[in-house]
Amino acid sequence: MRVPPARILFPADDRAAVLARIDAAMVSGQLTLGPIGRELEAAFAERHQVRHAVAVNSGTSALEIILRSLDVAGREVLVPANTFFATAAAALHAGARVRFVDCDPTTMAIDPADAARLVGPDTAALIVVHIGGLITSAMPELEALCEAEGIHLVEDAAHAHGSALDGRSAGTFGVAASFSFYPTKVIAGGEGGMIVTNDDRIAEEAGVYRDQGKAGFHANFHTRLGHNWRMSEPHAAIVLSQLGRLDEFIARRQELARRYDEALATLGIETLAIPAGAHCNYYKYVVFLPDGVERTALKQLLRDEYEVGLSGEVYDTPLHHQPVFAHLVDEATVLAGAEWLCARHVCLPLYPALSDADADYVVESFAAALHRLGAESGVGPGPVAAT
Ligand SMILES: Cc1ncc(COP(=O)(O)O)c(C=O)c1O
Repeated sequence: MRVPPARILFPADDRAAVLARIDAAMVSGQLTLGPIGRELEAAFAERHQVRHAVAVNSGTSALEIILRSLDVAGREVLVPANTFFATAAAALHAGARVRFVDCDPTTMAIDPADAARLVGPDTAALIVVHIGGLITSAMPELEALCEAEGIHLVEDAAHAHGSALDGRSAGTFGVAASFSFYPTKVIAGGEGGMIVTNDDRIAEEAGVYRDQGKAGFHANFHTRLGHNWRMSEPHAAIVLSQLGRLDEFIARRQELARRYDEALATLGIETLAIPAGAHCNYYKYVVFLPDGVERTALKQLLRDEYEVGLSGEVYDTPLHHQPVFAHLVDEATVLAGAEWLCARHVCLPLYPALSDADADYVVESFAAALHRLGAESGVGPGPVAAT
């Protein structure tokens, strides 16, 4: 394939440095919860200017640990309908009841008006997800809502390493935030996650939960129903090296995004607008499908005839249509913004290793494929008004 949907970048110097660290860990025998993990936590906390960063084995466990620390069991957690399975699953695993909230297609994030409609006496927390790396410009409204209602604002920042809004970093808006280092993410570790928080109690609970609920590393004395959610030292070594590249990776993603913006604007193709004040890491580059274009056909044509792989959508099926969550909704559940969004967008390939020439080729191929599929004029983001 000429342009694959994604490619991870591990520069040669970084690979050598990672191998040297792993070698040292093997010699010392400290292969989990060791000095590399602590160095990573310190670097991550420093970068986010927060008091605590706690490394764990996935973004999912990071989120579940936060929610367990907030004691959401038996209470309600508001989750956007347009997010990855794990956001809702983490809340359910923590014992909460999940309510799906509609999304604003212009930001891809939770719609504050729908969140305000759904919040009730039993609501413990609201999870905002920075879809595609964009922090919604509605954050002040969401913060005000949570403050007024006395509920916790939690960030699922799995997509948003290095993103910011008006100078505030993703991960610093809520009471705590989770990050993921899954291989598709802006920085990757194979597997891994991170909790960031300024709350001393959440950080302490996280240290206990991630290590089988043990009160201390050396004692078999269990005070919480924890899990093996530890980050191993080899994973920490990879994430630490990737963290050192974060700004460089984002700069290249932003450069490519500007190139896409300009080329697509001349073709009249609608893209997700990044408002002033938002520093987007472009985890995804989102394009809205013109009327009449069927996504599966478009993706297949691009793959088979142009050798261009589109990256995965964020997301193609809203959570209230996932069979595993069917019991959480009834037939009257209508989440029109999320449904429109999930059905009507694609994500162009965008990663630091993508060349300018290949980015140009993606746009040419995309335009040609749309033409062949008989695309009508572009539409802006938003649910199509019912007629
Ligand atoms: C929005 C969102 N939340 C949570 C997760 C879970 O992260 P992990 O795969 O590291 O468990 C992901 C990962 O894909 C994600 O995209």
